[in-house]
This record gives sequence, C-alpha cells and structure tokens, in this order.
Amino acid sequence: MRPVRSIGEASMKLSPNTLQGIETAIANYPRKQSAVMTLLHLIQEERGFLSDEAIEWVADKLEIQPIKVLELVTFYPHYRREKLGKTHVRLCRTLPCALMGAYRVGDRLEAALNCKMGQSKGDGTLTLEYAECLAACATGPVALVDEDLYENLNLPGSLQTLVDTVRDRSAEGASAL
Ligand code: FES
Repeated sequence: MRPVRSIGEASMKLSPNTLQGIETAIANYPRKQSAVMTLLHLIQEERGFLSDEAIEWVADKLEIQPIKVLELVTFYPHYRREKLGKTHVRLCRTLPCALMGAYRVGDRLEAALNCKMGQSKGDGTLTLEYAECLAACATGPVALVDEDLYENLNLPGSLQTLVDTVRDRSAEGASAL
C-alpha cells in the first residue's frame, strides 16, 4: 500500500460543479463524515481516479484520518488508484463466463495486446482488467471495450475481432494523447 502524503487543500483544483456536489452531499448527512463515499465518487468522476492528493483532500474536508479514506478506496473495487487508459477493456470472469473459457481469453488478450490483466499500458492507451458479471451470461465469455459489448469470445474469429478493435482504438487514443 502506498503511503498517503500530506498535501494541503489548495493542491486539489476541482471544478465548480464537483465542489457544489460535494457541499450538497455533505449537507445531506447529519454527520459530514458519512458523505465520504459520495465525495470519493464525485472526485473520481471528475479525475478518473483517486490520487493521494484526493484522499488527503477528502480526509481534510471531512475531518477524518487519511488512512480511513484509503481503507475505503482500497476495499471497494470501483474506486481507482490509477488513471484509466484511453481504451478500457473489461473481461467478465464470473462463474458462467469462467466456465466458458474467460481465463483462456484473458491469457490470449494479454499476449496479443502486450498488456497484463489489471494493468494499464505505460503510454496510457489501454487498460485491461477482469470484471464481474456484465449481465450477458448466456453469451459468455464476454468483454466490454469501453461501452461496447463483445460476446461469445470462444467462437472462431471473435477474439481476433476484439483484438483488432482494441488495437484500432488504442492507436486512435495514442494519436490523441
Ligand atoms: S457471468 Fe459473465 S456476463 Fe454474467
């Protein structure tokens, strides 16, 4: 676990909308500390991930220990500690998809895209990770590329289509960086 540095409130430059949302969220609770999850969501929505600075800022704002905020961030998988790549691939590994070969698909994706599951490429073009049920269990294994669903990834040609799509999007993402 990375240590949280002590950084002042001034280092977080959040948008007026996010700041407004934060004040509204805090006002909704009898104890401001209860708004911690909402604040983390709002900041992640704006920044894409939760940095050390964000954790320290939330702790200052709510007058709680930074370690308590860090515990929440590291416990719940929907909170991110790293920025997402421009293209985001999520491969379902819940039981029905796992039984249909999701882990084999994951191994092949890692090799074809030169990126480990659970990691982002150093150039910021791609994040590859496992996810839990994507609500398409009858057509597994399935993956989301950004918001587009790819199904039956164990059928001939389907994985190559997915890989080609990801490579195209990653190349576009690289030129946009
Ligand atoms: S188990 Fe994979 S989509 Fe439901």
